[in-house]
Amino acid sequence: MSFNPLKEKGMPLEKQLRNWHQVVAKPYKKQETDCYTRTRQILMNGIEVEAWGFKHQFGRFMSDIDFDDRANISRLGRIENQQQMTCNWLCPADQSVLETTLGYEQVAVDLTAWLAQNEPDKYVKETFDFGLLEDFDHLYRYAQFAYMTEGVEPNDIVKGQTDVIVGRPTQHHHNCNGLRLRKHYDKTTASPQTKVNILTVLSGEQQTHNFYAEHGFMYGDHVLRETYAEIKDVEEEHVTMYESLIDPSESMFEKALLHEFTEVCNYYTCLEDEVDEDIKKYWEIFLDMEIGHLQLVVQMFKKYEKRDPEEVIGSEIVIPCRFKSQKTYVQKVLENEVDKRLAPEGEYYKSIDEIPKDWASYPVQKRVAEISAPSENCINLVEFYHDRDVVEADQDLKDKEVLLLEKGLQKVGVAHNTVTPDKLKKMIEKHEKRKDIKDEII
Ligand SMILES: [Fe+2]
Ligand SMILES: [Fe+2]
Ligand SMILES: [Fe+2]
Ligand SMILES: [Fe+2]
Repeated sequence: MSFNPLKEKGMPLEKQLRNWHQVVAKPYKKQETDCYTRTRQILMNGIEVEAWGFKHQFGRFMSDIDFDDRANISRLGRIENQQQMTCNWLCPADQSVLETTLGYEQVAVDLTAWLAQNEPDKYVKETFDFGLLEDFDHLYRYAQFAYMTEGVEPNDIVKGQTDVIVGRPTQHHHNCNGLRLRKHYDKTTASPQTKVNILTVLSGEQQTHNFYAEHGFMYGDHVLRETYAEIKDVEEEHVTMYESLIDPSESMFEKALLHEFTEVCNYYTCLEDEVDEDIKKYWEIFLDMEIGHLQLVVQMFKKYEKRDPEEVIGSEIVIPCRFKSQKTYVQKVLENEVDKRLAPEGEYYKSIDEIPKDWASYPVQKRVAEISAPSENCINLVEFYHDRDVVEADQDLKDKEVLLLEKGLQKVGVAHNTVTPDKLKKMIEKHEKRKDIKDEII
């Protein structure tokens, strides 16, 4: 890769303010769009929400800088705000909350799988693999409701690119906050790739949390509302986990550089990969704008820290998000690591069999599921609609589902309404027996 954004000028800030007609773009068509155009749109919205929020944190925390620089940071925030509207509102009005939700979890699965395979730091990679299997299970849980509530099949959205089957059961994603904290990288030795990877997935997870917080109540079905609440709480844990990987001693100017560089890298990749010509134009314009942002922040970094920005972001672009099917990789992680659990600092991960009797996450899991686990109730409910859970995967993976559940389910801290491997097996058998009868028209 030879593109060095530090050598480019980008669009000057004074040319970046757009009119409302330019801000509100024409949405894609939900039936026709490439699923990875949707995932790019969802991810870039998350990146822009983080970019916008950071400018405000910067404004609130930084006192010893010149008025003109403060004003420019505030102008940047306004542009991020306009970009965010464009990205988010590419989503069409007739795409339901559940359909968009499947898109969010497809982002999480395929992005995290890509990151894990392109992450130079082994410890950070392990964290990506751990988070991956949780979002993978969220996709499966929401797919049940999309089918029951709206008759949506998973492949209407994920288009066969991402498997939908049980992962690490969602009821086991609730942890003691202290256990979620990971070891942070060292800002002086971590590669720009690691820094951008983490900021990218963190932005995505944070926006997933926000989307569930703002939309889960839009359904009347109480079990679905509870499921949104439960998964939103896991996304909150994911934000905690991924942000804890960042070196907390990075200065605000270093962070500002990393935010703009992350935006540049993501738009650069979107531009290279986009198949929708109308949307591609936005990625091109926004890349130019972000290079302009980066140049402005570079000037401030040099002025206030008297350092070379290459120390923080290097001298070439990195690729954070090449969206494509990751089924083979995800299946490998699923089969090997579905029984992984968080261990205390210094140990980091253990298998279910190795966690101690006084594991700090047990009381959390017991408390939140003391009435029932909504994410288990959704499988109990779908039995009435479909005899068994809604699954999309090749037959060889489908054949392993009961075994995967057996391996991923804890013996302790299990909700009373849990769909056990035995029950799942019976559901699958019932479905097989009644399939032919159901297919008959008369
Ligand atoms: Fe931006
Ligand atoms: Fe998720
Ligand atoms: Fe997540
Ligand atoms: Fe920016």
